Amino acid sequence: MVDPFLLLAVFVTALAAVAYFVFASFVYGAGYQPTPRRVVERMLEYAEVASHDRVVDLGAGTGAIVFRAARERGATVLGVEVEPIRILILRLRRLIGGPRGRVTIHWGNMFDIDLSTADVVTCFLWPGAMQKLRPKFERELAEGARVVSHWHPVPGWRVAAIDPALHVYYYRWPTAKPNPNAASSVA
Ligand SMILES: C[S@@+](CC[C@H](N)C(=O)[O-])C[C@H]1O[C@@H](n2cnc3c(N)ncnc32)[C@H](O)[C@@H]1O
Repeated sequence: MVDPFLLLAVFVTALAAVAYFVFASFVYGAGYQPTPRRVVERMLEYAEVASHDRVVDLGAGTGAIVFRAARERGATVLGVEVEPIRILILRLRRLIGGPRGRVTIHWGNMFDIDLSTADVVTCFLWPGAMQKLRPKFERELAEGARVVSHWHPVPGWRVAAIDPALHVYYYRWPTAKPNPNAASSVA
């Protein structure tokens, strides 16, 4: 007969792990939701991701963008994720399906990542995180870098393309820089 306290302990631990998986990253700037297939496709298409590109996915989740950019476009991809269970999933996916040589998984805070060597930055984050990322983008992105975001725009930046149905916002740096004389830009 199984000890009921042991069962309860297992149940509570499993529940805590699930709650942590779902809610922990709220503290850092965005909860978890995988980027839908069609959206990933549009993001990669807008940014014209190719094999010579170095892509950085800020908040890599379980890898919807990371692995497609690496496998289908041949890009070199850095996936940055703060939540450890998702890091484990990302590392397992990399180990099992690869491509190991072109995918790097970094466990840490995306605000600490240097973006100066990125050709393409992808994100699916919350508005507060986009707001905080804007000055970082402006400080660090190299000329010619592209940023593509799902659901939330980079506040104040000028878009190069938008898919309103899929909520995809595409920017080229430095042309995304807001014109101080313009009446308005995409908020
Ligand atoms: C909506 S999901 C992104 C999905 C993912 N890009 C994909 O391709 O499916 C947002 C992710 O950002 C992560 N995140 C939130 N704040 C973060 C931070 N400061 N640094 C790194 N990752 C963060 C969350 O843990 C979550 O997995």
